[in-house]
Amino acid sequence: MASSGAAANLWVLLGLGIAGVLLAARRLRRSARPDHGAFIARLELLPPPQPPPPQAPHPLTGLCFAIADALHVSGYVTSFGSLEWAKTHDAETQTSPVVSALVDGGAICVGKTVIDEMAYSIHGENKHFDTPTNPAAPERVPGGCSSGSAVAVAGGMVDFALGIDSIGGVRIPGAYCGVLAFRPSHAVSSGGVIPVAPSLDTIGWFARDPNVLRRVGHLLLRLPYADIRPPRHFYIADDCFELSKIPARRLTQVVTKSVEKLFGRQVTRVNLENYLASKISSLRNYSNGHKNGDSKFPSLLALCNAMRSLHKREFKDQHMEWINSVKPAVDARIVSNLSEDGDSDIDACQDARNKARLALGALLKDDGILVIPTALGCPPKLNAKELSSESYNSQTLCLSSLASMSGCCQVSIPLGTHDKCPISVSFIARHGGDRFLLDTVQTMYATIQEQVEILAKSNVSSKQAMNEEAAETAKEKGNAAFKEKQWQKAVNLYTEAIKLNGKVATYYSNRAAAFLELTNYRQAEADCTNAIDLEPKSVKAYLRRGTAREMMGYYKEAVEDFNHALVLEPMNKTAGVAVNRLKKLFA
Ligand SMILES: *[C@@H]1O[C@H](CO)[C@@H](O)[C@H](O)[C@H]1NC(C)=O
Ligand SMILES: *[C@@H]1O[C@H](CO)[C@@H](O)[C@H](O)[C@H]1NC(C)=O
Ligand SMILES: *[C@@H]1O[C@H](CO)[C@@H](O)[C@H](O)[C@H]1NC(C)=O
Ligand SMILES: *[C@@H]1O[C@H](CO)[C@@H](O)[C@H](O)[C@H]1NC(C)=O
Repeated sequence: MASSGAAANLWVLLGLGIAGVLLAARRLRRSARPDHGAFIARLELLPPPQPPPPQAPHPLTGLCFAIADALHVSGYVTSFGSLEWAKTHDAETQTSPVVSALVDGGAICVGKTVIDEMAYSIHGENKHFDTPTNPAAPERVPGGCSSGSAVAVAGGMVDFALGIDSIGGVRIPGAYCGVLAFRPSHAVSSGGVIPVAPSLDTIGWFARDPNVLRRVGHLLLRLPYADIRPPRHFYIADDCFELSKIPARRLTQVVTKSVEKLFGRQVTRVNLENYLASKISSLRNYSNGHKNGDSKFPSLLALCNAMRSLHKREFKDQHMEWINSVKPAVDARIVSNLSEDGDSDIDACQDARNKARLALGALLKDDGILVIPTALGCPPKLNAKELSSESYNSQTLCLSSLASMSGCCQVSIPLGTHDKCPISVSFIARHGGDRFLLDTVQTMYATIQEQVEILAKSNVSSKQAMNEEAAETAKEKGNAAFKEKQWQKAVNLYTEAIKLNGKVATYYSNRAAAFLELTNYRQAEADCTNAIDLEPKSVKAYLRRGTAREMMGYYKEAVEDFNHALVLEPMNKTAGVAVNRLKKLFA
């Protein structure tokens, strides 16, 4: 009986164990989702057969891609980042022309990716489908709205991916996930995609390889063949880099050095706020219910507020009716944001947009590049308070409003990591300068990454320089303690100096002097030997080692040390006296 009871207990235990394993496995699966939770649906759209030679093969042969789930694929319901939307809409009957063009161009479409609910936000969090995990910084947001597409590229699951960019929806997740992200100057194609704010909407794309980024652009923008034109002017918007939480030099130096190396040119530093203010005086007056107040960037902020007003107004025109019909099913924050809208002067917004295009066109012309930070710095942590702060949202959107409002094209270029999170910089070219911008990125990318490496290494050496400085400080403190006859304290400080920089003879030799005072002759001798190895002409080290050896009774070795000191410094009385004393002892 007892044994069968024990057996039953064993089974219970085993059962619990298995349940535990299953639970652990489920948890593991959640935290290490194989596709980082980027995909909503897997599918396969295969390209047509290759044309027979001698015709060239399809230009995108061998590449696979994913699309943000605001683009339609025939036979699939488009979710628009919302389960409620998916529930209330039928399967599409037509594939988006952009997707068809890519597939006809030889690329394989492998799936649809998560976007923010109704493509409304720039954060990349989604309650309906779960937030995709940022492969470059798993505890931080991936950025939105095209979060899943950025994650799919960053995680190496596809070669490129399409996203929606109205107010930053491709550029921001590109920056946060550490991949190339391109917003074109044109809408690329209307139709086949759910509109967000039609006058601001573009279809952008992500890639890891600048050549892929460019090939996709050439196909989608139907660019005819032309020679690559080198850029003539790089304008670094110094004031915009002040918004960034990353040290400006970490971002701009890479660009400055790359431009010097590739084109033998200096960059031009500009104050964009002053430039905009001088070109668009009416901007300063425009506030549209948002506070321009005490901002250091009244013009930029006005441009940004105009973008937000247009975005809100057009989004409402498109979707308010549906939202009202399903209301509790839509994120309350979206609903409350939409209801915040005051009476915005849409004509003034349009005016700001036209003037911004003229102003940036006049600055950049056909061969200029404007350099700004893509985002404020590291992506915020998941669920961080920062995400709902007006200053974070407003400053981030200020940076993306430049291209969104002017119709310029923009590319975000990853620049490695800072504090273990991806950082980036953006290049902007005039409206219609897409080919020029894509070619420039292709030309510069390798050099830029080379400079990122060099900077990372020079930071290692700057760390070394910092240690050397700290070691000198410790030595000075040690000398002061020695003067005050605090021998043990001096030993500790010299030890600290040696730990920071083990290549300086003086630190050993000084510690030896303190050890002599503490009558720790063996340590004193060892330190002097180290000092002599590092600096063979150190008279002090020979004298101190001689003293230590004399005290330990190694007279012969002591005489050798004092004699050595005399060879180096024949007039040194301390050495002479010691040699004479020891000689008398053995005479
Ligand atoms: C902007 O406001 C100032 C006064 O605050 C006014 O003098 C100026 O005419 C306004 N400019 C435009 C373009 O509305
Ligand atoms: C709503 O607006 C506030 C600031 O006005 C912003 O912080 C928040 O992120 C917005 N919410 C969404 C979902 O965009
Ligand atoms: C170098 O690294 C330190 C941290 O170790 C950082 O504070 C500093 O900004 C970095 N410098 C540059 C130029 O990136
Ligand atoms: C002997 O040399 C040491 C080390 O250079 C020096 O500190 C000391 O003052 C010298 N002594 C004399 C008497 O010259």
